Amino acid sequence: MAQSFFAKDGTAQGVAKQRYIETLAKPEYRIINDPYSKSFVLGSGVIKLMGHKLNSWLSQKLAPGFHEHLISRTRFIDELVEKCSRDGKQQYVILGAGYDSRAHRLELSPSLKIFEVDQKEVQDRKLSKLPSEVPNSENITYVSIDFSNQSLSEQLLDAGFDQSKSTVFTLEGVAQYVSKEALTTTIKEVEILSKDSESIFFLSYVNELLSKNPEACFGKGYRNPEKKAALIQSLSEKAGEPWISLYSNEEIEDLLTLHGFSIEENITFSELNSRFFAPLGRDLPEDQIFKLEQLLVARS
Ligand SMILES: C[S@@+](CC[C@H](N)C(=O)[O-])C[C@H]1O[C@@H](n2cnc3c(N)ncnc32)[C@H](O)[C@@H]1O
Repeated sequence: MAQSFFAKDGTAQGVAKQRYIETLAKPEYRIINDPYSKSFVLGSGVIKLMGHKLNSWLSQKLAPGFHEHLISRTRFIDELVEKCSRDGKQQYVILGAGYDSRAHRLELSPSLKIFEVDQKEVQDRKLSKLPSEVPNSENITYVSIDFSNQSLSEQLLDAGFDQSKSTVFTLEGVAQYVSKEALTTTIKEVEILSKDSESIFFLSYVNELLSKNPEACFGKGYRNPEKKAALIQSLSEKAGEPWISLYSNEEIEDLLTLHGFSIEENITFSELNSRFFAPLGRDLPEDQIFKLEQLLVARS
Protein backbone atom coordinates (compact mmCIF):
# COMPACT_ATOMS: atom_id res chain seq x y z
CA MET A 1 0.00 0.00 0.00
CA ALA A 2 1.22 3.52 -0.78
CA GLN A 3 2.39 5.58 2.20
CA SER A 4 0.07 8.46 3.03
CA PHE A 5 0.48 11.57 5.12
CA PHE A 6 -3.20 11.48 6.10
CA ALA A 7 -4.04 10.10 9.55
CA LYS A 8 -6.68 7.65 8.29
CA ASP A 9 -8.82 10.62 7.22
CA GLY A 10 -7.74 11.12 3.59
CA THR A 11 -10.98 9.93 2.02
CA ALA A 12 -13.11 11.57 4.73
CA GLN A 13 -11.38 14.83 3.78
CA GLY A 14 -11.95 14.11 0.10
CA VAL A 15 -15.71 13.86 0.55
CA ALA A 16 -15.81 16.89 2.86
CA LYS A 17 -13.93 18.83 0.18
CA GLN A 18 -16.65 18.15 -2.39
CA ARG A 19 -19.28 19.22 0.16
CA TYR A 20 -17.36 22.43 0.77
CA ILE A 21 -17.08 23.15 -2.96
CA GLU A 22 -20.83 22.73 -3.32
CA THR A 23 -21.47 24.94 -0.30
CA LEU A 24 -19.64 27.74 -2.13
CA ALA A 25 -22.29 27.77 -4.87
CA LYS A 26 -25.12 30.32 -4.80
CA PRO A 27 -27.82 29.15 -2.36
CA GLU A 28 -30.47 28.82 -5.09
CA TYR A 29 -28.11 26.71 -7.19
CA ARG A 30 -26.62 24.31 -4.67
CA ILE A 31 -27.65 20.76 -3.87
CA ILE A 32 -26.37 20.73 -0.30
CA ASN A 33 -25.13 23.23 2.26
CA ASP A 34 -22.41 22.06 4.65
CA PRO A 35 -20.87 25.09 6.34
CA TYR A 36 -18.83 22.85 8.69
CA SER A 37 -17.02 21.03 5.89
CA LYS A 38 -14.39 23.77 5.53
CA SER A 39 -13.03 23.05 9.01
CA PHE A 40 -11.86 19.62 7.89
CA VAL A 41 -10.35 20.29 4.49
CA LEU A 42 -6.69 21.05 3.84
CA GLY A 43 -6.34 24.21 1.77
CA SER A 44 -9.89 25.38 2.40
CA GLY A 45 -8.77 29.02 1.97
CA VAL A 46 -7.56 28.35 -1.57
CA ILE A 47 -10.71 26.38 -2.37
CA LYS A 48 -12.80 29.33 -1.20
CA LEU A 49 -10.80 31.77 -3.33
CA MET A 50 -11.29 29.57 -6.39
CA GLY A 51 -15.03 29.39 -5.75
CA HIS A 52 -17.61 26.84 -6.84
CA LYS A 53 -17.27 27.42 -10.57
CA LEU A 54 -13.52 26.91 -10.93
CA ASN A 55 -13.42 23.98 -8.50
CA SER A 56 -16.29 22.27 -10.34
CA TRP A 57 -14.56 22.85 -13.66
CA LEU A 58 -11.36 21.24 -12.33
CA SER A 59 -13.29 18.30 -10.95
CA GLN A 60 -15.01 17.96 -14.32
CA LYS A 61 -11.60 17.78 -16.00
CA LEU A 62 -10.41 15.13 -13.56
CA ALA A 63 -13.49 12.91 -13.74
CA PRO A 64 -16.83 14.19 -15.06
CA GLY A 65 -19.67 13.48 -12.66
CA PHE A 66 -17.46 12.78 -9.64
CA HIS A 67 -18.42 15.95 -7.71
CA GLU A 68 -22.11 15.60 -8.58
CA HIS A 69 -22.14 11.97 -7.56
CA LEU A 70 -20.75 12.66 -4.09
CA ILE A 71 -22.91 15.65 -3.27
CA SER A 72 -26.09 13.99 -4.48
CA ARG A 73 -25.30 10.94 -2.34
CA THR A 74 -25.11 13.31 0.62
CA ARG A 75 -28.38 15.03 -0.36
CA PHE A 76 -30.15 11.67 -0.73
CA ILE A 77 -29.13 10.63 2.79
CA ASP A 78 -29.92 14.10 4.20
CA GLU A 79 -33.49 13.72 2.98
CA LEU A 80 -33.73 10.15 4.26
CA VAL A 81 -32.50 11.09 7.74
CA GLU A 82 -34.75 14.16 7.96
CA LYS A 83 -37.73 12.00 6.98
CA CYS A 84 -36.82 9.33 9.55
CA SER A 85 -36.57 12.03 12.21
CA ARG A 86 -39.98 13.47 11.23
CA ASP A 87 -41.47 9.96 11.24
CA GLY A 88 -40.40 9.49 14.85
CA LYS A 89 -37.19 7.46 14.66
CA GLN A 90 -35.50 7.84 18.04
CA GLN A 91 -31.84 7.10 17.27
CA TYR A 92 -29.49 7.79 14.37
CA VAL A 93 -26.25 5.83 13.98
CA ILE A 94 -23.72 7.24 11.50
CA LEU A 95 -21.39 4.36 10.65
CA GLY A 96 -17.97 5.49 9.38
CA ALA A 97 -19.06 9.09 10.01
CA GLY A 98 -15.77 10.73 9.04
CA TYR A 99 -16.42 14.46 8.67
CA ASP A 100 -20.19 14.09 8.28
CA SER A 101 -21.92 17.06 9.92
CA ARG A 102 -25.57 16.01 9.57
CA ALA A 103 -25.99 16.11 13.32
CA HIS A 104 -25.29 19.85 13.23
CA ARG A 105 -26.73 21.03 9.94
CA LEU A 106 -29.99 19.13 9.39
CA GLU A 107 -33.46 19.88 10.78
CA LEU A 108 -33.63 16.99 13.23
CA SER A 109 -35.87 16.40 16.19
CA PRO A 110 -34.17 17.54 19.42
CA SER A 111 -35.07 14.14 20.90
CA LEU A 112 -33.17 12.19 18.21
CA LYS A 113 -30.15 10.58 19.85
CA ILE A 114 -27.17 10.44 17.49
CA PHE A 115 -24.21 8.05 17.60
CA GLU A 116 -21.21 8.87 15.41
CA VAL A 117 -19.11 5.77 14.82
CA ASP A 118 -15.61 5.82 13.31
CA GLN A 119 -11.96 5.07 14.00
CA LYS A 120 -10.61 6.85 17.06
CA GLU A 121 -7.92 8.78 15.16
CA VAL A 122 -10.52 10.24 12.77
CA GLN A 123 -12.88 11.17 15.60
CA ASP A 124 -10.08 12.84 17.58
CA ARG A 125 -9.20 14.90 14.52
CA LYS A 126 -12.80 15.78 13.89
CA LEU A 127 -13.33 16.96 17.44
CA SER A 128 -10.13 19.00 17.37
CA LYS A 129 -11.30 20.83 14.23
CA LEU A 130 -15.03 21.23 14.81
CA PRO A 131 -15.90 24.75 16.00
CA SER A 132 -16.70 24.74 19.72
CA GLU A 133 -20.22 26.16 19.42
CA VAL A 134 -22.18 23.98 17.01
CA PRO A 135 -25.89 23.16 17.13
CA ASN A 136 -27.08 19.89 18.62
CA SER A 137 -23.71 18.78 20.09
CA GLU A 138 -25.45 17.64 23.27
CA ASN A 139 -27.31 14.93 21.33
CA ILE A 140 -24.19 13.25 19.92
CA THR A 141 -22.28 10.35 21.41
CA TYR A 142 -18.96 9.48 19.73
CA VAL A 143 -18.23 5.76 19.56
CA SER A 144 -14.81 4.58 18.41
CA ILE A 145 -14.51 1.37 16.45
CA ASP A 146 -12.47 -0.52 13.93
CA PHE A 147 -15.05 -2.52 11.96
CA SER A 148 -12.33 -5.11 11.19
CA ASN A 149 -11.86 -6.29 14.73
CA GLN A 150 -14.38 -4.76 17.13
CA SER A 151 -18.02 -5.51 17.82
CA LEU A 152 -20.38 -2.73 16.79
CA SER A 153 -23.16 -3.95 19.07
CA GLU A 154 -20.87 -4.09 22.12
CA GLN A 155 -19.45 -0.64 21.47
CA LEU A 156 -22.87 0.93 20.85
CA LEU A 157 -24.62 -0.78 23.77
CA ASP A 158 -21.78 0.34 26.08
CA ALA A 159 -22.31 3.88 24.80
CA GLY A 160 -26.03 3.88 25.64
CA PHE A 161 -27.67 2.64 22.42
CA ASP A 162 -31.18 1.40 23.24
CA GLN A 163 -32.32 -1.71 21.31
CA SER A 164 -35.96 -0.95 22.04
CA LYS A 165 -35.82 2.35 20.17
CA SER A 166 -36.38 2.68 16.44
CA THR A 167 -33.22 3.65 14.60
CA VAL A 168 -31.84 4.83 11.27
CA PHE A 169 -28.35 3.56 10.40
CA THR A 170 -26.31 5.03 7.54
CA LEU A 171 -23.08 3.65 6.05
CA GLU A 172 -22.08 6.22 3.43
CA GLY A 173 -19.00 5.71 1.30
CA VAL A 174 -17.42 3.12 3.62
CA ALA A 175 -18.17 -0.39 2.28
CA GLN A 176 -15.39 -0.30 -0.32
CA TYR A 177 -12.73 0.37 2.34
CA VAL A 178 -13.47 -2.55 4.65
CA SER A 179 -13.16 -6.28 4.00
CA LYS A 180 -16.22 -8.29 3.01
CA GLU A 181 -15.94 -10.12 6.36
CA ALA A 182 -16.03 -6.80 8.23
CA LEU A 183 -19.09 -5.60 6.28
CA THR A 184 -20.89 -8.92 6.84
CA THR A 185 -20.15 -8.72 10.57
CA THR A 186 -21.34 -5.11 10.68
CA ILE A 187 -24.64 -6.04 9.01
CA LYS A 188 -25.07 -8.93 11.48
CA GLU A 189 -24.45 -6.49 14.32
CA VAL A 190 -27.02 -4.05 12.93
CA GLU A 191 -29.46 -6.98 12.89
CA ILE A 192 -28.72 -7.65 16.59
CA LEU A 193 -29.13 -3.96 17.41
CA SER A 194 -32.47 -3.87 15.55
CA LYS A 195 -33.97 -7.02 17.06
CA ASP A 196 -36.50 -5.25 19.31
CA SER A 197 -37.49 -2.38 17.06
CA GLU A 198 -37.79 -1.24 13.47
CA SER A 199 -34.70 0.09 11.68
CA ILE A 200 -33.91 1.77 8.41
CA PHE A 201 -30.49 0.94 7.02
CA PHE A 202 -28.82 2.99 4.28
CA LEU A 203 -25.74 1.51 2.62
CA SER A 204 -23.71 2.67 -0.37
CA TYR A 205 -21.38 0.25 -2.14
CA VAL A 206 -19.24 0.16 -5.26
CA ASN A 207 -20.46 -2.18 -7.96
CA GLU A 208 -18.07 -5.00 -8.90
CA LEU A 209 -18.62 -4.03 -12.54
CA LEU A 210 -15.96 -1.41 -11.86
CA SER A 211 -13.30 -4.09 -12.24
CA LYS A 212 -15.19 -6.45 -14.56
CA ASN A 213 -16.65 -3.97 -17.05
CA PRO A 214 -15.81 -0.33 -16.16
CA GLU A 215 -17.77 1.01 -19.11
CA ALA A 216 -20.99 -0.17 -17.44
CA CYS A 217 -20.25 2.09 -14.43
CA PHE A 218 -20.53 5.29 -16.46
CA GLY A 219 -23.14 6.80 -18.76
CA LYS A 220 -23.11 5.83 -22.43
CA GLY A 221 -20.35 7.69 -24.27
CA TYR A 222 -18.31 8.56 -21.11
CA ARG A 223 -14.73 9.13 -22.25
CA ASN A 224 -11.99 6.72 -21.15
CA PRO A 225 -14.03 4.81 -18.55
CA GLU A 226 -11.22 2.32 -17.79
CA LYS A 227 -8.74 5.15 -17.16
CA LYS A 228 -11.19 7.08 -14.99
CA ALA A 229 -12.06 3.97 -12.98
CA ALA A 230 -8.34 3.39 -12.39
CA LEU A 231 -7.75 7.07 -11.53
CA ILE A 232 -10.48 7.20 -8.87
CA GLN A 233 -9.16 4.03 -7.25
CA SER A 234 -5.56 5.22 -7.34
CA LEU A 235 -6.51 8.52 -5.64
CA SER A 236 -8.03 6.56 -2.76
CA GLU A 237 -5.04 4.30 -2.56
CA LYS A 238 -2.72 7.32 -2.43
CA ALA A 239 -4.78 8.65 0.46
CA GLY A 240 -3.89 5.38 2.23
CA GLU A 241 -7.36 3.83 1.81
CA PRO A 242 -7.56 1.47 -1.17
CA TRP A 243 -10.89 0.11 -2.41
CA ILE A 244 -10.67 -3.50 -1.33
CA SER A 245 -14.30 -4.66 -1.62
CA LEU A 246 -16.63 -4.37 -4.58
CA TYR A 247 -20.04 -6.05 -4.71
CA SER A 248 -22.68 -7.28 -7.10
CA ASN A 249 -26.23 -6.08 -6.40
CA GLU A 250 -27.32 -9.67 -5.73
CA GLU A 251 -24.52 -10.19 -3.21
CA ILE A 252 -25.48 -7.15 -1.14
CA GLU A 253 -29.21 -7.72 -1.43
CA ASP A 254 -28.81 -11.40 -0.39
CA LEU A 255 -26.66 -10.39 2.56
CA LEU A 256 -29.22 -7.90 3.81
CA THR A 257 -32.14 -10.27 3.23
CA LEU A 258 -30.31 -13.01 5.14
CA HIS A 259 -30.06 -10.65 8.09
CA GLY A 260 -33.71 -9.71 8.23
CA PHE A 261 -33.83 -6.63 5.98
CA SER A 262 -36.15 -5.99 3.08
CA ILE A 263 -34.84 -3.79 0.28
CA GLU A 264 -36.83 -0.63 -0.35
CA GLU A 265 -34.66 1.17 -2.90
CA ASN A 266 -31.40 0.51 -4.77
CA ILE A 267 -30.51 3.36 -7.10
CA THR A 268 -27.61 4.93 -8.99
CA PHE A 269 -26.69 8.48 -9.89
CA SER A 270 -28.88 8.36 -13.03
CA GLU A 271 -31.99 8.70 -10.83
CA LEU A 272 -30.41 11.37 -8.63
CA ASN A 273 -29.52 13.38 -11.71
CA SER A 274 -33.19 13.81 -12.58
CA ARG A 275 -34.29 14.12 -8.95
CA PHE A 276 -31.86 16.79 -7.74
CA PHE A 277 -29.99 18.38 -10.66
CA ALA A 278 -32.63 18.61 -13.39
CA PRO A 279 -34.96 20.94 -11.40
CA LEU A 280 -32.02 23.39 -11.09
CA GLY A 281 -31.09 23.09 -14.75
CA ARG A 282 -27.86 21.35 -13.69
CA ASP A 283 -28.59 17.84 -14.97
CA LEU A 284 -25.59 16.10 -16.47
CA PRO A 285 -25.67 14.69 -19.98
CA GLU A 286 -25.56 10.89 -20.24
CA ASP A 287 -21.87 10.90 -21.27
CA GLN A 288 -20.86 12.54 -17.97
CA ILE A 289 -22.71 10.25 -15.64
CA PHE A 290 -20.81 8.44 -12.95
CA LYS A 291 -22.76 5.46 -11.62
CA LEU A 292 -20.24 3.13 -10.10
CA GLU A 293 -21.81 3.31 -6.68
CA GLN A 294 -25.25 2.05 -5.65
CA LEU A 295 -27.37 3.65 -2.92
CA LEU A 296 -29.50 1.15 -1.07
CA VAL A 297 -32.20 1.63 1.55
CA ALA A 298 -33.47 -1.35 3.54
CA ARG A 299 -35.90 -1.85 6.42
CA SER A 300 -35.59 -4.39 9.23
C1 LIG B 1 -14.84 8.04 2.42
S1 LIG B 1 -14.90 8.28 4.14
C2 LIG B 1 -16.65 8.59 4.31
C3 LIG B 1 -16.94 9.42 5.52
C4 LIG B 1 -18.39 9.84 5.65
N1 LIG B 1 -19.28 8.71 5.73
C5 LIG B 1 -18.79 10.75 4.52
O1 LIG B 1 -19.46 10.28 3.59
O2 LIG B 1 -18.42 11.91 4.56
C6 LIG B 1 -14.72 6.64 4.79
C7 LIG B 1 -14.84 6.55 6.32
O3 LIG B 1 -14.80 5.19 6.71
C8 LIG B 1 -14.05 5.09 7.89
N2 LIG B 1 -13.48 3.74 7.99
C9 LIG B 1 -12.72 3.11 7.06
N3 LIG B 1 -12.32 1.89 7.52
C10 LIG B 1 -12.86 1.77 8.77
C11 LIG B 1 -12.81 0.75 9.76
N4 LIG B 1 -12.13 -0.39 9.56
N5 LIG B 1 -13.46 0.95 10.92
C12 LIG B 1 -14.16 2.11 11.12
N6 LIG B 1 -14.25 3.11 10.22
C13 LIG B 1 -13.61 2.94 9.05
C14 LIG B 1 -12.95 6.12 7.69
O4 LIG B 1 -12.32 6.47 8.91
C15 LIG B 1 -13.70 7.27 7.04
O5 LIG B 1 -14.22 8.17 7.95
